Amino acid sequence: MHEQIKNINTLEELQALYASVFGKNGTMTARLKQMKNLDNDARAELNRENASLRELFKTRQSEIENAVLMAGLQKQKLDVSLNPIPENRGTLHPLTQSLSEISSVLESFGYTLYTGPEIEDDWHNFTALNTPMHHPARDMQDTFFLPNGNVMRTQTSAIQIRAMEKNGVPIKMFGIGSTYRKEMDATHSPMFHQIEGLYIDRGITMSDLIADIRAFLSGFFGLENIELRIRPSYFPFTDPSIEVDMKWQGGKWLEIMGAGMIHPNVLRNCGVNPDEYQGFAFGFGWDRLAMLKYNLNDIRQFYDNDVRWLKSAGF
Ligand code: DAH
Repeated sequence: MHEQIKNINTLEELQALYASVFGKNGTMTARLKQMKNLDNDARAELNRENASLRELFKTRQSEIENAVLMAGLQKQKLDVSLNPIPENRGTLHPLTQSLSEISSVLESFGYTLYTGPEIEDDWHNFTALNTPMHHPARDMQDTFFLPNGNVMRTQTSAIQIRAMEKNGVPIKMFGIGSTYRKEMDATHSPMFHQIEGLYIDRGITMSDLIADIRAFLSGFFGLENIELRIRPSYFPFTDPSIEVDMKWQGGKWLEIMGAGMIHPNVLRNCGVNPDEYQGFAFGFGWDRLAMLKYNLNDIRQFYDNDVRWLKSAGF
C-alpha cells in the first residue's frame, strides 16, 4: 500500500485510492468495523496502521499539490534577461520649462499670474494703453486685424489693462500669453510669446523697477552678478520708457526687455488716480529669453514640433 501511494501522481487517483481504503466500503473501514473482535495488541496495531496510512495520504497530497504549483510557475516564468521594448518618453517643451522657471521667480517676488484673450478688442490692445486710433506708435507693431475691428493681441500689455480693470490698485501682477504680428524670420515668428509685469502702489519709483528686473534676470539665468545697461526708449504706455540690455557671454550686449513708469493716461483709463498711485511695467519676449538660456538660434524650431530637434537640443 505504501509503495502504491507513493507512485500516485495525480490528486484524482489519490482521492480514488483514499476512497477505496477509507470510504464507506473501504478496506480499512471494514477492518475498523471488526476491531471489537481483536485482542488488545492487534487493536493497537490496527490503530497504528490506520494513523500511518492517513498520514501517508496527507503527505502525498501536499507533495502532489506542490508539484502542480511548481509546474504552473515554470510555465509562467519571466525571462528577465529579455531586452525591454524601447520606451519613448515625453519631455516638457523648452518653452513650457522656461515658463515654469520664469513664473517661479516672479511669484517669489509677489507677482500674481493673469491671462487674457488672444483675440483682443482695440481698447485693451491699444487705446487704453495710451495708443488711440491714428497714434503713430500703432505702426510699431504689424497687427493682424479681424473683420470686426478686433485684433490678434500684439502685446501682453493688454493683460495689464484687464488686470487693473478687474482688481484695481494696488496690484502686482504678471501676464503671459501668445502674441501675434505679421513678421517671420529666424528671430521672429508670427506667433510668439510675451511676459508682462506690472506693479502699482503708492510711491513706486524707477529704482524699484530696476531692482526687480535685476533680481528677475539673475534668478532666471541663475547668475549671481549681471551687468545691465539702461537705455532711454519710447513706448506710448510708459513715461519715462527704457530698454534694458544685459551683458552676455563674450561681452556682447543683448536687448532683453522694454519697461518704464506707467503713463498717467493709462492709469486714468483704468480709473486710477495718477496723483495717488504710481507704478512700473515691463515686457519681454518669453521665446527670446528661452533661446538665450538654452542657447538656441532659431525661434521657428519651437513651433516645428520636430521631436528629433527637441531630443538633440537635450530637452
Ligand atoms: N509691449 C511692448 C512690446 O510689445 C513691450 C513693453 C514695453 C511692455 C514696455 C511693457 C513696457 O509693459 O512697460 O514691444
